[in-house]
Amino acid sequence: MKRRMIRLEQTDSTNIQVRKLAISGAEEGTVVSAKLQTDGRGRRGRVWESPEGDNLYVSLLLRPDLATECAPMLTLVMAYSIALVLRRATGLEIQIKWPNDLVIHGKKICGILTEMYLQEQSIDYIIVGFGINVNQEQFGTAIRHMATSLSVEAGRRFDCEDLLEEILTVFEGQYEKFLKYKDLSCIQEQYNLMLVNRDREVRILDPVREYRAFALGIDEMGGLRVRTAEGAMEIIRSGEVSVRGIYGYI
Ligand code: BTN
Repeated sequence: MKRRMIRLEQTDSTNIQVRKLAISGAEEGTVVSAKLQTDGRGRRGRVWESPEGDNLYVSLLLRPDLATECAPMLTLVMAYSIALVLRRATGLEIQIKWPNDLVIHGKKICGILTEMYLQEQSIDYIIVGFGINVNQEQFGTAIRHMATSLSVEAGRRFDCEDLLEEILTVFEGQYEKFLKYKDLSCIQEQYNLMLVNRDREVRILDPVREYRAFALGIDEMGGLRVRTAEGAMEIIRSGEVSVRGIYGYI
């Protein structure tokens, strides 16, 4: 993948900027990063607090030749790639909360927002946006109980540009492999070893009902395999469904 980096001091949302570039024909590998976002977006229409505090706010443009149902797997490939880099950089046991949050000591340090755009029912482009709390020391009261940063956890600061370079390099390698197999068989085992939900009881919040189940790990398509209280095996696909711990976020 040929990388083209666009570094902004400030923007509304790097996902919005990449979308504009994609519409005007930008190529796969276009990356927009910003030091501050005024309209940072999270999943499910939530806000992603994006202060100027040495964090990473980054979006990457992809134009894969993939069936639409394979697209959500890219989020897991990115989560896995970021986890590998952050584990190496910090020495901390960073874990993945399925499908795509990264956590340390039960608190979130990274979120990923993947958006797919179609043309005549096939993928035109995909934007993978990620926010990592790198050197942020203070968090608003609304998120303080569930958010942390690398610097808070590791007790030292990190160079955002170095981390970004490594993340993109690792992701590019994983993306190439993923495109070959079009499933997650290459990372399934390693991803499951990093999975915070694994072998735990979770609450499945789907739009029609909430129920408890025992999480076993991901399958090769990135779905979460769970065993329900009645003993039935189910596979939770991302999308509308949210998975929480019994007592809270984890
Ligand atoms: C989430 O956990 O809800 C996903 C958060 C994704 C935040 C990143 S920051 C860079 C990119 N631009 C955005 O507006 N959102 C993503």
